[in-house]
Amino acid sequence: MKPLILLVTLFVLAPCVRAQQSDLITNTENRKTISLDGQWQIIVDPYESGYYDYRYQPSNNGYFKNAKPKSKSELIEYDFDKSATLKVPGDWNTQMDQLFFYEGTVWYKKSFDYLPRLDTRVFVYFGAANYVADVYLNGEKLGRHEGGFTPFNFEVTKLLRDKDNFLVVKVDNKRRRDAVPTLMTDWWNYGGLTRNVKLIETPGTFVQDYMVQLQRGSRDRVSGWVKLAGDKLAQKVTIRIPEAGVNKSFATDANGLALIDFSADFKLWSPESPKLYDVTIEAETDQVRDQIGFRSLETRGTDILLNGKPIFLRGVCIHEEAPLRGGRAYSREDAVTLLSWAKELGANFVRLAHYPHNEFMVREADRMGIMVWEEIPVYWTIDWENPATLANARNQLSEVIARDKNRAAVVIWSMANETPLSDPRLTFLRNLITHARSLDSTRLLSAAMERHYLDPKTQMIDDPLGEFLDVLGCNEYVGWYDGLPEKADGIEWKSKYQKPLVMSEFGGDAAFNNHGDSLTRWTEEYQESVYKHQIGMLKRIPFLRGTAPWILMDFRSPRRPLAGIQDYWNRKGLISDRGERKRAFFVMQAWYRELNQNQ
Ligand code: GCU
Repeated sequence: MKPLILLVTLFVLAPCVRAQQSDLITNTENRKTISLDGQWQIIVDPYESGYYDYRYQPSNNGYFKNAKPKSKSELIEYDFDKSATLKVPGDWNTQMDQLFFYEGTVWYKKSFDYLPRLDTRVFVYFGAANYVADVYLNGEKLGRHEGGFTPFNFEVTKLLRDKDNFLVVKVDNKRRRDAVPTLMTDWWNYGGLTRNVKLIETPGTFVQDYMVQLQRGSRDRVSGWVKLAGDKLAQKVTIRIPEAGVNKSFATDANGLALIDFSADFKLWSPESPKLYDVTIEAETDQVRDQIGFRSLETRGTDILLNGKPIFLRGVCIHEEAPLRGGRAYSREDAVTLLSWAKELGANFVRLAHYPHNEFMVREADRMGIMVWEEIPVYWTIDWENPATLANARNQLSEVIARDKNRAAVVIWSMANETPLSDPRLTFLRNLITHARSLDSTRLLSAAMERHYLDPKTQMIDDPLGEFLDVLGCNEYVGWYDGLPEKADGIEWKSKYQKPLVMSEFGGDAAFNNHGDSLTRWTEEYQESVYKHQIGMLKRIPFLRGTAPWILMDFRSPRRPLAGIQDYWNRKGLISDRGERKRAFFVMQAWYRELNQNQ
């Protein structure tokens, strides 16, 4: 069975990647790395004249050559080393006022020396680059990556030299109809090298990837695999978990793949006790350490079971907006701040919207005991019938699952958000669901699905997508886009499915410190009233097993220009962008306290 999964993964990657993109190296936290973060020279290139010639044909002599005039007469019309710089990781929009609204190409250049090591391979790894990245080393094309929120790496062993290496990346965040996400979103299209960039050093044959998790619904049976990359693929690999008395060896096959299967007695990971074990994956030529939690997940009727017990997901949605400073969040500190605010709200669950956030978010959630809903940006009206769009979405799913499949905190993979009903849409999403299940059979699948009114007082969940999901997700804005807050008092919910529901969005906008009566829009009192009436309605839904109000903190959106109130911020945060708690925050906090006490 497992070799098929690997084949599927390799096949899926093929359409979107160029020749030299290596299989994703997972767990870069615990490998030998050299950071390339810091100031990078940049050239802003709205007409892509560093890539195309005046006939709009790709040029062989573009900015990736980092050319310097060899004589006083030679004509070179760019010079990275005399150009401005930007900090990496970081979006360009909040680093330079002129780039605040900029959507287009920016060229990045980083020069560095490298001390080669014997029997060592080197890869350049990007945590993410929004949206399309063309990567070059020393003037040679390494490849292209599409998708702004997942990691990718290229092997550079043969191209590296001791001195004056120059890594050049063309980053283009232009929105396209056939892209994922597509043209319209309700978040800022932060562009650039938005996450860490590093060199990874590995032995000739190394542990490229592995999955060490409990089987679905089991509390003691681990099944997974270890994948080697290199030329000595048939080896003995050993899994060591000293604290759990595990020391199990397996043999890799000719493709470097070992299937692993063993039982052990674990202290199970849960929000109350987020136990992580030190796990070593040892091959004859390489060794990788990781911190992994073990927990079982399943649904039974309308219940979600964690470690065999029914659980309520007390959640909140989060965008990857940096707390207190704005811009794309990227650091461990950003993650700890946002997750600590969620904990202060009383959350044991977060919905990371609407795209994979940086790895620090899921690793800190692992440590802090917060369950995670991860989503790929199949958002609103995607180009459903375009095969390249499907391949792109599948690739983003492959990459986020590859990166986070060993994180106990990640409990739900979400396929999409608010996508309009149609047969092409259902075919597209079913394809993603099959793909996700082939890559990871241990987690629950969901999506923020459509719902409709059966009659003025009854909301119905019968989106055909629900049939193929484990957990139903629904967004509703009763009291904000849909009537006034009191309207929720008379609303009942029905579902076609015997499955658990997570209300994946609800809420309303308020500018912090804007006060008035509870029927005055944009005031804290109005938002507070929305929440009070929402909670009343939510409590009456018999199959509700989780809630994730929209949203923890105000976030930037180009669709929100209301001057003096929004100023290009979506103000549905329970906390302002400056960290100020709004009245509704305390309403939600009180309910979560009550739920926690009754758990
Ligand atoms: C939608 C959507 C969010 C958006 C929110 C809003 O439901 O999923 O991305 O920001 O509503 O309108 O504030």
